[in-house]
Amino acid sequence: MDMKQIIAGRIADAAQVCFEHCALTAADVAAMIEMPPDKKLGDYALPCFRLSKTLRKAPPMIAAALAEKIDAPEIDRVEVVGGYLNVFLSRSQMARGIVEAVLAHPGRWGASDVGAGKTVCLDYSSINIAKRFHIGHLSTTMIGHSLKRIYAFNGYETVGINHLGDWGTQFGKMICAYKKWGDRAQVEAGGVQAMVDLYVRFHEASQSDPALEDEGRAWFKKIEDGDPEAMEIFSWFKEVTLKDTQRVYDLLGVRFDSYNGEAFYNDKMEPVVCELREKGLLQESQGAQVVKLDDYGMPPALVLRSDGASLYITRDLAAALYRQNTYHFDKCLYVVAYQQNLHFRQLFKILELMGYDWSKNMEHVAFGMVSYEGRALSTREGYVVYLEDLLNKAVEKAREIIEEKSPNLPNKDEVARQVGVGAVVYFDLHNERIKDIDFRWERALSFEGETGPYVQYTHARCCSVLRKAQAYQGVQPEYGVLCDDEAMDALMLLSRFPETVRKAMDQNEPSLITRHTTSLAQAYNKYYFEHRIMEESDPAGSAARVNLTAAVCDVIKTGLYLIGMEAPDRM
Ligand code: ARG
Repeated sequence: MDMKQIIAGRIADAAQVCFEHCALTAADVAAMIEMPPDKKLGDYALPCFRLSKTLRKAPPMIAAALAEKIDAPEIDRVEVVGGYLNVFLSRSQMARGIVEAVLAHPGRWGASDVGAGKTVCLDYSSINIAKRFHIGHLSTTMIGHSLKRIYAFNGYETVGINHLGDWGTQFGKMICAYKKWGDRAQVEAGGVQAMVDLYVRFHEASQSDPALEDEGRAWFKKIEDGDPEAMEIFSWFKEVTLKDTQRVYDLLGVRFDSYNGEAFYNDKMEPVVCELREKGLLQESQGAQVVKLDDYGMPPALVLRSDGASLYITRDLAAALYRQNTYHFDKCLYVVAYQQNLHFRQLFKILELMGYDWSKNMEHVAFGMVSYEGRALSTREGYVVYLEDLLNKAVEKAREIIEEKSPNLPNKDEVARQVGVGAVVYFDLHNERIKDIDFRWERALSFEGETGPYVQYTHARCCSVLRKAQAYQGVQPEYGVLCDDEAMDALMLLSRFPETVRKAMDQNEPSLITRHTTSLAQAYNKYYFEHRIMEESDPAGSAARVNLTAAVCDVIKTGLYLIGMEAPDRM
């Protein structure tokens, strides 16, 4: 029940009556409809300028003709101003229609089945073994998680893939360092940080003892050859890393369907390389094997080094084929920082040159960088912020605020987790993904303005109203009371929510949902402060306002869910 679609349909019907051979569809009209900035100009406006070409009439005449023929219960009146047809909705009809439609689909307003029977693979988070999870990994994790929910909400089968970075000579060095200085219990207790320390020590030591590098390489060779000792240590490194990371995933509520990473493709690259050669795409360059891409304005992609070793892109080629053969995806998304833009352009182009039509269904969902309190993170300068520390601190701070504002709240720990983590997630998904983000505590945890706690708080406020509204449950609502501008704003946002969900999916842009949900929270709060929801003397009007509250409550919760946030009932 999207009002705009309904009105578009009514206008299209009128056009059929007014103009002979008019091929205007409801979808055409919907695409042209605008929302006037000032409500005095109507709730919707149709500019008729573009139509004048096909209909061979002046825009004001088209608008006037449509105005005369349009007839719909949803419309109160229309006005013609210049070449515009301005539509004023019948507010009580509209209020009833929207509120009842939302309440008829609890938790599913905006859901669709456009993806029914289709599969989308999402490659996100994709952590590196033996490296700590820092806030630079937040965006890939949360954008991917949110998109997975958005696609599932639209009927898609989704496959969440953590393409582990678990291959490379550094792992040989790490084993070498472990054998020299390491201790099982120490790594077991220290987790990833203990491995990082070993690696740093290896680097320092190799400055004065270059032979170490050879030893490291020898250990990597052992991994490649499947030597049992090397394999045992290496898979244990993996286990330790995944255990460490799992704590963060648990806090965020993130889950994956597959952890097949780079190492998984060890035995799957040879066929790909053969295929490239057979298809005449491989060329030798200084002993190495490359795919030339000059014709497409890109540098050559290095597929095999001169010593025969495979590279990042070789593994990604094998992974793409594996995913298509295994999941038969209709879409494959890579949620990876924009710095890897060239890598993905090369990857997609090579697959296209190999003749795979499905390569056009792959997309690099790029995002910007995260800085912290105004400073760019830099591992080299030792300026890193670990995600787990950040989340824990956010939970702690949320807990302090709860202690101060609502000391009697039951299950404070649980709510502190939902709010603290939510604040961080919201901060990450609030701006267009391609923009860089500067994380600031003061903004993230504020209960005002555009923040996660603010939206969650509005949801809890709605829940609180609903808890007190039992008395109006069986009362027939009088929607005529929802005709003021504040109610209209909230109603319009409810009615447009499905359109926003769809757009967020089409553009792989969760921030559209973050913003829409925030606007809805703001509109409701405005309404709440200017109107009494429950008035004993007016049960029918109260019932309508309570229903509006219930609809807002439900849609805020859905919006938060779609961006990976929880919505506590009390705060
Ligand atoms: N592990 C890589 C990194 O941290 C990201 C992997 C992204 N996925 C992929 N299929 N290339 O940079």
